[in-house]
Amino acid sequence: MTKETLFRCPNCHQALIRGEKQYYCSGGHTFDLARKGYVNLLLPSHTRSREPGDSKQMLQSRRAFLNKGYYQPFSDVLNETVLRTLQRERLALLDAGCGEGYYLARLASCLRENLSEKAELYGIDISKRAINYAASRDRNLQLAVGSSYHLPIVNESLDYLLCIFAPRHEGEFARVLKPKGLLLVAAPGPDHLFSFRQVLYKDPPPIGERGTVGEGFKLLAERHVSYEVELRQKEDLLHLFRMTPYCRHAEGTEFERIEALQIEVDFKLLVYQKI
Ligand SMILES: C[S@@+](CC[C@H](N)C(=O)[O-])C[C@H]1O[C@@H](n2cnc3c(N)ncnc32)[C@H](O)[C@@H]1O
Ligand SMILES: [Zn+2]
Repeated sequence: MTKETLFRCPNCHQALIRGEKQYYCSGGHTFDLARKGYVNLLLPSHTRSREPGDSKQMLQSRRAFLNKGYYQPFSDVLNETVLRTLQRERLALLDAGCGEGYYLARLASCLRENLSEKAELYGIDISKRAINYAASRDRNLQLAVGSSYHLPIVNESLDYLLCIFAPRHEGEFARVLKPKGLLLVAAPGPDHLFSFRQVLYKDPPPIGERGTVGEGFKLLAERHVSYEVELRQKEDLLHLFRMTPYCRHAEGTEFERIEALQIEVDFKLLVYQKI
């Protein structure tokens, strides 16, 4: 069985067809499906690193932390925001920088429950390991290793794009969205992990105006999600530390000073429309 997809060939930009074992384009390029069903569409010229994206330790920590449900209230608001703002039931959506797929897989089951039409859900991440994890969460997701700076997606093909704490390229995002398509950006708010950062840094650097998208988009809606949560184990704190960029800047010994298991979660969701 073959199926047309919204993935495009990174070499000649023709749409990719999904076959039994490969994706292929009309230009004769082929891309093997991994056993778990994802495809690698990242060209060596798309990255300077041999192992791009988050490290194995960051990914494993993020997965362990997210699986404990601490960010589930945020994920629920995200799902509700997509449901509330989507313009048609037959939805083509991409999560750009989907990581190990926590949010995308939870959105998939929410949409299955709430939409009468089957949504087509795509995810890309520059880290192959992350995509491999994401593929184990949900076999129905269409996943590819790829860069948000060179999205392997056909022009003007998507109704909805998610960018959750991941790098953005507004030009690429505008290219792949249909006219009036929606872009949801998630970014940390000013109070995110405030006490945690206070221990790590003498003067915690402020979290600036993240998540703002400029030319080619207009802001339709903004939501704040903030709550406090008590971590159940000290190990969860270590995972939190390792999944954030702080572990790149702070020494492990500074982390040892964190005692409190109470954390502040403060996230922003911004919904933009392509103009
Ligand atoms: C902070 S994580 C967020 C992952 C996921 N959205 C989540 O919230 O759980 C950032 C992700 O962006 C990915 N990434 C980094 N550079 C990228 C790029 N150029 N294109 C696509 N993904 C990228 C990393 O591998 C990582 O999975
Ligand atoms: Zn091709």
